[in-house]
Amino acid sequence: MPLKLTVNNVEKTVDVDPDTPLLWVLRDVLHYTGTKYGCGMGLCGACTVHLDGKPTRSCLTRAGAAEGKAITTIEGLSADGSHPVQVAWEALDVPQCGYCQAGQIMAAAALLANTPHPSDAEIDTAMSGNLCRCGTYPRIRQAIHEAAAAVSTTNK
Ligand code: FES
Ligand code: FES
Repeated sequence: MPLKLTVNNVEKTVDVDPDTPLLWVLRDVLHYTGTKYGCGMGLCGACTVHLDGKPTRSCLTRAGAAEGKAITTIEGLSADGSHPVQVAWEALDVPQCGYCQAGQIMAAAALLANTPHPSDAEIDTAMSGNLCRCGTYPRIRQAIHEAAAAVSTTNK
């Protein structure tokens, strides 16, 4: 039976086994290729998307379990790269090879949605499951602080 998935506010009908990992449905069926495959075991965070706003490993999530939830991928974080996290990432030139960065940005956006002014420790805890082989961690932390500051300035 086809699944109905709501991805980036658009309802999609996909004819897949409900046990298929959401990552493969997003990438191979719906062609949202911004979400990356790293380990397939929940260990690296490259596949992080939001499910109802919560950062979620799409490699470990059954597509069937995502039915009825709001799925947000990096393509849906903003229409034009204007999310404060994306702006800060670009300003600080955070990525190196870039492979892990969609997952990093999705994790950072979820953190700031719940904790608008995270401490270094809170950032490290929230981002600890997102690995970066290029070691961009200091810039990631700096960019999260910058995004937090930009949001609070905008809200004044
Ligand atoms: S690919 Fe999902 S956590 Fe690594
Ligand atoms: S930027 Fe290369 S793995 Fe993170």
